[in-house]
Amino acid sequence: MHDLIVLGGGPAGYLASERAGRAGMDVVCFEMREVGGVCLNEGCIPSKALLNSAKIYSHAKHGEAFGVIAGDLKLDHSLVEKRRAKVVKTLVGGVSAGLKANKVTVVKEQAVIKGFVQGGFAVEAAGQTYEAKNLLIATGSSPVMPPIPGLREGYAAGWVLTNREVLALAEVPAKLTIIGGGVIGLEMAAYYQTAGSQVTVIEMLDHIAGPTDGEISGLLLKAYQAKGVKFELGAKVVSLGDGRVNFERDGKTVAVESDKVLCSIGRRANVQGIGLENIGVETTRAGVKTDAQCRTNVLNCYAAGDVNGVSMLAHTAYRESEVAVNTMLGKKDTMRYHAIPSVIYTDPEVASVGMSEEAAKAAGIEYECKKLSMRYAGRFVAENEGDGLCKILVDKKHRNVIGVHMLGTYSSEIIWGAAEMIETELRVVDAREIVFPHPTVSEIIREVLWAFED
Ligand code: NAI
Repeated sequence: MHDLIVLGGGPAGYLASERAGRAGMDVVCFEMREVGGVCLNEGCIPSKALLNSAKIYSHAKHGEAFGVIAGDLKLDHSLVEKRRAKVVKTLVGGVSAGLKANKVTVVKEQAVIKGFVQGGFAVEAAGQTYEAKNLLIATGSSPVMPPIPGLREGYAAGWVLTNREVLALAEVPAKLTIIGGGVIGLEMAAYYQTAGSQVTVIEMLDHIAGPTDGEISGLLLKAYQAKGVKFELGAKVVSLGDGRVNFERDGKTVAVESDKVLCSIGRRANVQGIGLENIGVETTRAGVKTDAQCRTNVLNCYAAGDVNGVSMLAHTAYRESEVAVNTMLGKKDTMRYHAIPSVIYTDPEVASVGMSEEAAKAAGIEYECKKLSMRYAGRFVAENEGDGLCKILVDKKHRNVIGVHMLGTYSSEIIWGAAEMIETELRVVDAREIVFPHPTVSEIIREVLWAFED
């Protein structure tokens, strides 16, 4: 009998396996595709490789203002693709090495929970039964594919893509239509528009970037439109076929000619076909139901990552996996979700943590908000021609930081510091005492903090 069986080798599964292995547990991790999961193989990492090529290209293209005159400039998608594959391979190798170093047994098979055995659980994979005292469900999520006429047929024909296929396209489509203006849609719009596609984003809501602060999502929309991306907001896709995506708005149906279509309208927890019913694991519409220790309703059975549907982000998965393993080890640990940063890796980047103005209003929290253009940071001006924004929300009564929202270069690398301020309930007066390195774009946070009254 093993100490722990982990279903899934993505960020939640592989990190839990490593942490548990490091603590001396005997761990078996099942992964039916490649360790690293969606994040490493067909999500976060490959998209960053593509986006960085787009960034280098467009910086060179618009380099005159910086004294950089490019000659015969070209973005060669096939070489970008090659590099993407190399990056993924390197990092998958790194994860495999980490698992090995922590003595985790990796089984490259699809596993199904079979039921309880004396003192634990039984799991079956490739006709073999494995038993363990603890079970961690980390099976991740899959793209939502609603029953819109022609969508699933289009996917079967290779015309409609999900995050998996769009990150490994051999050629840049001349006309790419993206259904859903959320994170995946926007990141892919940024790459493919720069790589030469005419991108159209069809979004059901009247704004892009989902729960992002309204002002920042408005600025991001403008930045995208300046790149040439077309947006159809408040639009409902009604059918697809014959190379067209048909959407409805204000009672009118409009067709968008499309060489390829990306469907990025959200993800759903992978709870089917893994045998949850065999041990009675409770699920909700979002996924496996978990508490703040990532425990399910079944004793010694845990769930972490996208499969619990709480916060479908790789960094949330990392932390949840640690909380789950610590709980197994009898160490006190709790998952907190109010200070999880979120980033959209476009150019310019968007990063936020904590409450947006919209969320604070909806929750009836009295707040004060101060904001400044990114151009108040010297390094930003030295390195950028455009603009950006930094907004900070402070609780009116307690004077602690409750939300930070940024648009501009390096935001993704700065935001963890803001998360720390929210986590530690730092008051404005105390946060001001932090010494920021100069000159850095991060200093914008200090500037905005000083915009508040004492
Ligand atoms: P999402 O939830 O971010 O965005 C989906 C968008 O599609 C929403 O704006 C929604 O209003 C729209 N939509 C839904 N149904 C629609 C319809 N029928 N027609 C038109 N629009 C429709 O989902 P997305 O972009 O697919 O990403 C999935 C998950 O992956 C997210 O949970 C996200 O957290 C994660 N992810 C995170 C990244 C990051 O942190 N940088 C990058 C990529 C993905």
